[in-house]
Amino acid sequence: MRATKVIRPRPSRRPAAGTRLDAQLRGIQRLVMQGELAATAVHEISNLQTIVLFNAGLLKEEHKGDAAVARHVEPLLHAAGLVAALCNQLRNLARPPEAHPQWLELNAVARRTHTLLQRIIPRDLLFEPDPGVTGSVIADPGQVEQMLINLVLNARDATPAEGGRIIVRVGATRGRRPFLEVEDNGTGMTPAVKARLFQKFFTTKAPGHGTGLGLVTVHRLLEGMGGRIEVRSRAGRGTRIRLVYPPAPAADPAGGAGLYPPNP
Ligand SMILES: Nc1ncnc2c1ncn2[C@@H]1O[C@H](COP(=O)(O)OP(=O)(O)O)[C@@H](O)[C@H]1O
Ligand SMILES: [Mg+2]
Repeated sequence: MRATKVIRPRPSRRPAAGTRLDAQLRGIQRLVMQGELAATAVHEISNLQTIVLFNAGLLKEEHKGDAAVARHVEPLLHAAGLVAALCNQLRNLARPPEAHPQWLELNAVARRTHTLLQRIIPRDLLFEPDPGVTGSVIADPGQVEQMLINLVLNARDATPAEGGRIIVRVGATRGRRPFLEVEDNGTGMTPAVKARLFQKFFTTKAPGHGTGLGLVTVHRLLEGMGGRIEVRSRAGRGTRIRLVYPPAPAADPAGGAGLYPPNP
């Protein structure tokens, strides 16, 4: 007797709309859970790091003058400092600190930051202010400084101590939008690196040197202000990263007080 051929319905290759939605929801829930997990982990790590930093500091203080102790304690302090910075960046990424936008002259903010950086960066670090002084923006000064510091530190990492040149420049686009840019004559980027520049945790640096959170933060802050980033880079030639801000009134509408009410 011939066996009856059983024909089973073939499953459709495309999942039903409901299933797709389900998968999307599951994906979102997973992301939320991962975010919460990360926030908890950052909190715990930060607490432990405070203990390490505090005790390493005490050890250094109590054994002042003991070269052997200093040799062992210094890397501890350095590493704990790096962990603190990483925790801060991760925290800001999850919930950026409240911004206090005010009327700013980009030239003034850039000059101040440039002076600060000149002391700690052993490179030819030049400053070219906007000759037309068109660079007024409404932004949180701390955020603008943070963006500039991120760009200059990246430029430092990409340039050699000998012959490395970094230019911090203020100007305005043809559309009269103020910009702040950092140009270097360093390693430049391959198209593959350029494509992943704004990906969270993307770094080409050695562990302990890069977090891959710098440009993501810059991008996020600038987007929040309604600005945009322009990147020009060629491998082996150098990089120019330009932060274009939305234009602001040429004079401080707050009459020099300079303070705008914080974001609602
Ligand atoms: N000025 C630059 N020149 C060359 N590469 C750069 C420059 N700025 C950023 N990059 C590349 O982009 C990556 C991501 O930068 P960033 O988000 O600041 O993270 P991190 O500095 O921690 O690596 C860097 O690791 C580097 O590969
Ligand atoms: Mg960086």
